[in-house]
Amino acid sequence: MVRRIGILTGGGDCPGLNPAIKAVVETALDEELADRRGYKFEVLGIKDGWRGLVRYDSRFPPMPPYAAFDDEHHVRLLVEGEVRTWDRLGGTRLGSSRTNPFKKGRETWPQMLENWKELGLYAVVAIGGDDTLSIAANLTEQKVNVVCIPKTIDRDLKGTDYSLGFETAVNVIVEEIDRIRTTAHSHSRTFVVETMGRDTGHLALSGGLAAGADIILIPEVPFSVARVIEVLRQRKQEGQRYSIVVVAEGAKLEGGSRVEKAPGANDQFDNPTLGGVGRYLEKELEQAFGGEIRSVNLSHLQRGGVPCARDRRWGRAFGVAAVDLVERQQFGRMVTYKDGRFGSIEIPKDLREKRHVDVAARYDVERYCGRYSMLSF
Ligand code: F6P
Repeated sequence: MVRRIGILTGGGDCPGLNPAIKAVVETALDEELADRRGYKFEVLGIKDGWRGLVRYDSRFPPMPPYAAFDDEHHVRLLVEGEVRTWDRLGGTRLGSSRTNPFKKGRETWPQMLENWKELGLYAVVAIGGDDTLSIAANLTEQKVNVVCIPKTIDRDLKGTDYSLGFETAVNVIVEEIDRIRTTAHSHSRTFVVETMGRDTGHLALSGGLAAGADIILIPEVPFSVARVIEVLRQRKQEGQRYSIVVVAEGAKLEGGSRVEKAPGANDQFDNPTLGGVGRYLEKELEQAFGGEIRSVNLSHLQRGGVPCARDRRWGRAFGVAAVDLVERQQFGRMVTYKDGRFGSIEIPKDLREKRHVDVAARYDVERYCGRYSMLSF
């Protein structure tokens, strides 16, 4: 007997996806395990997230391993030999999209389920963030077999302390701020560095602290420009040549709203495109200090490059755990890393609720930076 597993990656890409895909393929196809299971798995790679499953056309059946996807084909077989080196690769070799088959008024999920049957899929491993997982939750209600692997550089998924991509993104923030620092020092210029993270400040806070930023603004604590100016003035008075201000893209002004790049132009999951708060702050600070402020938006650099060691290790662990779930027929679940252990939970129902920075434990709301006390809360 051969059971077919489909695998896809949805939402914003990040390093860690390919290591997870490799681990799923290797674990599913492992011959020793197959002997113990008494049956074999076959793994089909699905192109561009849920979109590939919606667009699958039976006139173009799964391609053989190693074949490159083309416009007609949306599914292909994956074998160990092909994924062998994928743990070192960034992005996703399967492609990704933000397609929502349950989008009101544009529902394509019935077609997707037809294709699911047509392909004879026993289960699908979906690697994604809250949006991809919300599709998996809806599909579970349709009684098909799905398991999920959490990924998002935002690290904002509830139920798991880690999601793939986060640590590599933090490393990028640190590397880039190290670079910014040398020119900031040469020119005595304060830099505002904008990070991603949507409505949570994990990336900004972890990246900013690791890079030694002087001010870190996170969405969880609305900020006042006047207070930022005050802290920077104080640093100047203390003789500092420059300061580094890290601001999360979702940071809000006290009593105000956040900056959206293209207001109203939301994606299929109704997410607004954030970005621009760094530039906004640059202008405000320029006025206060009379020039010599620069801003840099790290933007998609944070999702680029090869996975760091942690994303390779966690990618592997999550991939292996996902196959465990399929083997044990524990469907409708997401693999997790919680309190230092790998495990799994039911796909959360309240995916819009985010895992936020624990402000009381980690953030100094007066100085807009990390707390200077770790144990006394
Ligand atoms: O959720 C991951 C993320 O990188 C966010 O931090 C960011 O706001 C968003 O995706 C950017 O999405 P896109 O790739 O559509 O520009």
